[in-house]
Amino acid sequence: MFIEMEHIVKKYGSGENTLYALNDASLSLNKGEFCVILGPSGSGKSTLLNILGGLDRADEGRLTVGNDELSKMSKKELSVYRREKIGIVFQTYNLIGELTVRENVKVVSDISKKPLDADVLLGELGLKDHKTHFPSEISGGQQQRCAIARAVVKNPDLLLCDEPTGALDSASSRDVLQLLQAVNRKYNTTLVLITHNEAIAEMADRVVRIRDGRIIENRMGEKKSVEELVF
Ligand SMILES: Nc1ncnc2c1ncn2[C@@H]1O[C@H](COP(=O)(O)OP(=O)(O)O)[C@@H](O)[C@H]1O
Ligand SMILES: [Mg+2]
Repeated sequence: MFIEMEHIVKKYGSGENTLYALNDASLSLNKGEFCVILGPSGSGKSTLLNILGGLDRADEGRLTVGNDELSKMSKKELSVYRREKIGIVFQTYNLIGELTVRENVKVVSDISKKPLDADVLLGELGLKDHKTHFPSEISGGQQQRCAIARAVVKNPDLLLCDEPTGALDSASSRDVLQLLQAVNRKYNTTLVLITHNEAIAEMADRVVRIRDGRIIENRMGEKKSVEELVF
């Protein structure tokens, strides 16, 4: 197994005000698996993703990703893990406004150990003609594709996406999902994607549902292509 998460607990507050953001969550994923995480707002989805990405630490439980045992790492080790092995895409694109599309991607590839070719990737993501544009000069869908390029260019072992289509119309959402599926297949990148949208889950190899910090469902997905989705 590439990811082994065992009995993870993450809590906020103390005493009778303790809130369990994750409560005994266990999950295993294979290398190259595409996992969609569903659940209502406040159920613990982002907490789970942030712990997988080394942005946050669990209070209890054991987590290994590849050869890294995250639950034993220091903050400093986690930041190296994050930089070298993890790509993250958020709902908000988090691009650097003063840099062009190409420069936004190059700042990441220039410091990566095994980067993909930034120009090839921008071409694959349909941004060939927008390389010299600034984020404010392109659409939301194009900005999200640039954010995906930034996350993917380091050739991460694990790509984490927190509601990547949350701010997009349905046509741009399809584009973005298609690109994520293509990256997952071409580079065998393990992909964990959070969404509210039940229809998107039909793309996944595995579907996980969270409620009140607990994993209440973990099943095989239908592996549909984006064209087959109805939303
Ligand atoms: N830094 C924090 N301090 C206190 N409570 C938090 C913090 N982060 C998240 N929570 C709480 O943990 C629960 C899970 O949050 P989150 O993982 O963001 O849910 P989701 O992404 O599913 O909407 C929520 O009740 C949220 O309010
Ligand atoms: Mg969230």
